[in-house]
Amino acid sequence: MTKYIVANWKSNKTIADAQQWLESYSKLIGTGGVKHVKVIVAPAFHLLSVFAQVPANMMSLGVQDVSPFAAGAYTGEVTASLLQGLAVKYAVVGHSERRRHFGETYAQVAQKVDQCLQNDITPIVCVDKAYIDQQAAALSKEHLDKCIVAYEPLAAIGSGWSEDVGTVKEIEKHIQDVFGEVPVIYGGSVDPADVLDYTLVSAGVLVGSASLKVESFVEMVKKVEVALT
Ligand code: PGA
Repeated sequence: MTKYIVANWKSNKTIADAQQWLESYSKLIGTGGVKHVKVIVAPAFHLLSVFAQVPANMMSLGVQDVSPFAAGAYTGEVTASLLQGLAVKYAVVGHSERRRHFGETYAQVAQKVDQCLQNDITPIVCVDKAYIDQQAAALSKEHLDKCIVAYEPLAAIGSGWSEDVGTVKEIEKHIQDVFGEVPVIYGGSVDPADVLDYTLVSAGVLVGSASLKVESFVEMVKKVEVALT
């Protein structure tokens, strides 16, 4: 089973910061790349071209959001179709920060999933336990099992508190009951000390703060890679 480690950089890093992170990442990982872990980096849109040429054995590229619409007169929006040529394979959608700060609804998340799938981008749908069922119900039935689902308890995001591993396992079962046999990853204050606990019980992790420092991110990737070898 593939184990995912997804870096969500949120609204951080300039082009120069990203270039430096990538240079260090490549050196620390080495030319052999990563064999057992699917590393996905989701930087902000202005950084995508920094990553466009990175070999697939090093990482895959994601975004943190896409427009609910197809291309057209939607000022300020980046549509899934506009990402062509940038090697974007994944998109985080429905992150709780977007739900909270931008009023994103279940229906809009469903439109985003549709746009992703129409453009060969795998959606990583974020949910907390209180609304797994509502979010699943808003999606087209045929889209459900084409998603990766990230269980992200609100209280764990950026707080230093992370969910009990047993609870993550229970929630994974609930998610798979409604979405189908999808990969379920955990996100919320994951760091090098607990990354293995979560990757061993789930399909992987979504990492915010601890992905910004290249040393801690590579430490997580290497720990999981070694455990799976
Ligand atoms: P965190 O963020 O690792 O900083 O808690 C996780 C996320 O919001 O996806």
